[in-house]
Amino acid sequence: MSNYYGELCTKMYEKEKPVAEERELDFYLSFVKNKEMKVLEPMCGNGRLLIPFLQKGINIEGFDISEEMLKVCKEKGEKLHLDPFVFKKGIEEFKSDKLYDLILIPFGSFSLLPDSIVNKSLHNLKSVLANKGKLLLTLMEKEGEIKEILDWNETNRISFSNETIVEFKKVTYNEQNDILETQLKYQSIQNHSIRKSEIMDFPIKLYDMKAFKNTLKRNGFQNIIVHEIENGYGNGNSFKVVECS
Ligand SMILES: C[S@@+](CC[C@H](N)C(=O)[O-])C[C@H]1O[C@@H](n2cnc3c(N)ncnc32)[C@H](O)[C@@H]1O
Repeated sequence: MSNYYGELCTKMYEKEKPVAEERELDFYLSFVKNKEMKVLEPMCGNGRLLIPFLQKGINIEGFDISEEMLKVCKEKGEKLHLDPFVFKKGIEEFKSDKLYDLILIPFGSFSLLPDSIVNKSLHNLKSVLANKGKLLLTLMEKEGEIKEILDWNETNRISFSNETIVEFKKVTYNEQNDILETQLKYQSIQNHSIRKSEIMDFPIKLYDMKAFKNTLKRNGFQNIIVHEIENGYGNGNSFKVVECS
């Protein structure tokens, strides 16, 4: 997994998604009732959400398994004279003595977790959630037509001052487990030659909401509400958030 959100993938992610859209941000901010609340963002990545939260003086910390993403998050914070408290940890191993009033997993990140660690991860989150605390998470759902991409297909290309990064993708659908078996390849091109390549396995679970609600209940979450945030990722781009406690 050494290339998982490695250098090139992270550079592309940060270029395109440095901070959350206002509407998305406002939705999550509406759950922060006061500055005393302790907020946790597992799988925080480059701090797309965590940094704007910190800028508002919110007591938030985060963790992620990608060193590259965490590095970008810290550097971004430092440029703004902030000191983000983020650390390397897998959600399936996360434990803490602290209790959090709000736990956020935005942007479908939860769908990146393999089935084998879903229960453990939910259990870990439940055990650090304060009495009246809430977990908000987003999923990628099974909806619409699934397009497989059997051969490497260029899906993105971004030019930086000294290099161009090209992304290629392959996708097959594992119908038995509802998993999009995705592979991403990143190439850094400098002076017409490939400086570096990264290949990343990127399986994505496509959830059925009803089944997921049962998974939440089995892991101790009882009160479950699903919010639809219209145009949350920009015009024509809505998303759902599962709120549970
Ligand atoms: C799509 S990015 C999203 C980052 C951030 N949540 C956002 O909204 O921009 C997914 C992140 O999940 C992290 N991740 C994947 N599996 C993880 C795990 N088991 N534990 C912690 N982080 C994980 C990846 O390293 C990556 O930074």
